[in-house]
Amino acid sequence: MFDPEEFVENKVRWLKDEVGGRKSVVAVSGGVDSTTTAVLGHIALGKNLDVVFIDDGLMREGEPSRVSKIFEQLGIKIEVRKVDERFFAALKGKTDPEEKRRAFRDIFYRCLGEITKEMGASCLLQGTIAADIVETRKGVKTQHNVLEQIGIDAVQEYGFKVVEPLKELYKHEVRAVAKELGLPREVFDRRPFPGPGLALRVIGEVTPDRVEKVRKVTSIVEEETAETSCFQSFAVLMQDRATGIDAEGDRNYGEIVVVRVVDSVDAMTAQPTRLSWESMKKIEERIVGEVPSIVRVLYDISPKPPATIEFE
Ligand code: XMP
Repeated sequence: MFDPEEFVENKVRWLKDEVGGRKSVVAVSGGVDSTTTAVLGHIALGKNLDVVFIDDGLMREGEPSRVSKIFEQLGIKIEVRKVDERFFAALKGKTDPEEKRRAFRDIFYRCLGEITKEMGASCLLQGTIAADIVETRKGVKTQHNVLEQIGIDAVQEYGFKVVEPLKELYKHEVRAVAKELGLPREVFDRRPFPGPGLALRVIGEVTPDRVEKVRKVTSIVEEETAETSCFQSFAVLMQDRATGIDAEGDRNYGEIVVVRVVDSVDAMTAQPTRLSWESMKKIEERIVGEVPSIVRVLYDISPKPPATIEFE
């Protein structure tokens, strides 16, 4: 039986040994994995740990200010770096999912390499969890945050050693540790969001305009499923188009979004959530009403396997 109290005690000791007196950086996204890593690191390393939030332009609505507020409440200093243009430039023209992940990973770690150098740090604390490693090993998809498993030497390539205190845990265990650390419910209950963010939720090329659209639809889906005990709920903007009718009754060859809501414990398997017809209709009406270029809303009923949770 997993004991979060014992885990915290052991990991704080482990972090002190692993990092020693070296300066370190942790990049947070507001999710439960990175926030838990940052708090464990803060307990173990204190002033020797700097917390940064990389605003890559691929996050959900209001995320940068939400994350800053959480850390402010925890009494931990956080620095926000807005680097969205660099991310969009790195992703420009890329359409293949694995190529997009590679481009994201490279610019993400390059930015972190510059930040760690500037801060005089030689370690990067990162909230990689077991599912990230297992799925990459199985060859399902290369999670953006696994470097060692795909043969990248972070010290040589980016100038820092990667330290991963949560790498043997699954999501539900990380949530238990977050609770043990006294983190607020909005952190320990936070629904997972992939590192490369909305870049994986627009099929095809990642442009600021397409990302903005999926961000808007994502907030609608999240708001309308807030009371549901699902594991994840989001929207994906398709590349294909479909015929619709605009307000004037004219043909509108518009965009398609897929709504994906799943139940899962550890992200290794998942089932589509049985939303009520009323919820689905409300989601559809809000999407086409609030984002006029969208003419069709589809609901994904695929389990994992054979599908994965994300589309890319
Ligand atoms: P899949 O799509 O593989 O997703 O069933 C399983 C869980 O992992 C998240 N996911 C990612 N997280 N980097 C991440 O940090 C990634 O590249 C990535 N791809 C998928 C996904 O949202 C789900 O919770």
